[in-house]
Amino acid sequence: MKKKKIIIAANFKMNKTHIEMRKYLESFFKKLKEFGIAGNFNDDMKRSVNIDSNYKSAFAGAEAEIIFAPAFTALNEAYNAIEAHPKFKNIIKLASQNVYYELSGAYTGEISIDMIKAFNCSYAIIGHSERRWIFNENDELIAKKIYAVLNYNKKKDTDNTDNNVHNNTERRCGKLVPILCVGENLEIKKSGKAFDFVAAQLDSALNYSADGSDNINGNINVADDIDIEKLIIAYEPIWAIGTGAPIEPEDGEKMHKFIYEYLTDNYSIKNLSVIYGGSVTEKNIKNLIEKDHIDGVLVGGASLEPQSFFNIYNFAVQTYS
Ligand code: PGA
Repeated sequence: MKKKKIIIAANFKMNKTHIEMRKYLESFFKKLKEFGIAGNFNDDMKRSVNIDSNYKSAFAGAEAEIIFAPAFTALNEAYNAIEAHPKFKNIIKLASQNVYYELSGAYTGEISIDMIKAFNCSYAIIGHSERRWIFNENDELIAKKIYAVLNYNKKKDTDNTDNNVHNNTERRCGKLVPILCVGENLEIKKSGKAFDFVAAQLDSALNYSADGSDNINGNINVADDIDIEKLIIAYEPIWAIGTGAPIEPEDGEKMHKFIYEYLTDNYSIKNLSVIYGGSVTEKNIKNLIEKDHIDGVLVGGASLEPQSFFNIYNFAVQTYS
């Protein structure tokens, strides 16, 4: 059994207006409340995913965190919805789908760390394969974003020692944790080089120093400069994203174990989680989450309906407990 909190994250991509997001969250919170109180699936739900009738409720002691990553335009709505449910604040967090590395200025169309922190985002997804391949984000840009977020956290440490904690009314509380996405395409998978490719993606994202651009392939890494307190890696093989064909759980376990060991051997990261993304549904969550090194999931398509995302969360918690 895993010792750390599992992470069940929803990446809404370019879906849902702020009004749709509000309705979604109302419905999701209602299910969460019913689950908390009544504590069980009805028989239809159990049959639909083939679980036995004695499946127990695990909400009360759930060692799981739910992360919602709505579009930027829906972050405020999501923030307000979570604020209105203080009971859920410990288990439900927000993530931005992207963030820019400069702190402010003339960068039309971009969004800064302060802007997403103002909506109390705890996480920022960085380097999603759709950003890499559709929007041409390269390794250097991704490395700069990771560096900027870690550097922001370092500055917060300094601020805190000076007793200069950010004012809560500005809602800029807490640090920002990167969710760094990595994963190979089908061609790389077929060539048998997925492990090397993922290791190179990790290195390039974590090897950037603000004082020189040629550190990308060099030997200065952010861990030398900044101790990484918390990092989430989302392993999302491109061939599995949105295809309905997720990774085989055994293959997922191998890659997750590799990522975990590679990072703990080469970097200093206090709190590392490696989550999986790519066609996760309520039907396959159980087999994925029961693997030792799969610390959670990042869900795209199957997160768009509150019921199916709720089922994913519910099955994950029950498998885990
Ligand atoms: P998917 O997307 O669940 O629709 O495959 C996952 C992701 O891209 O994060």
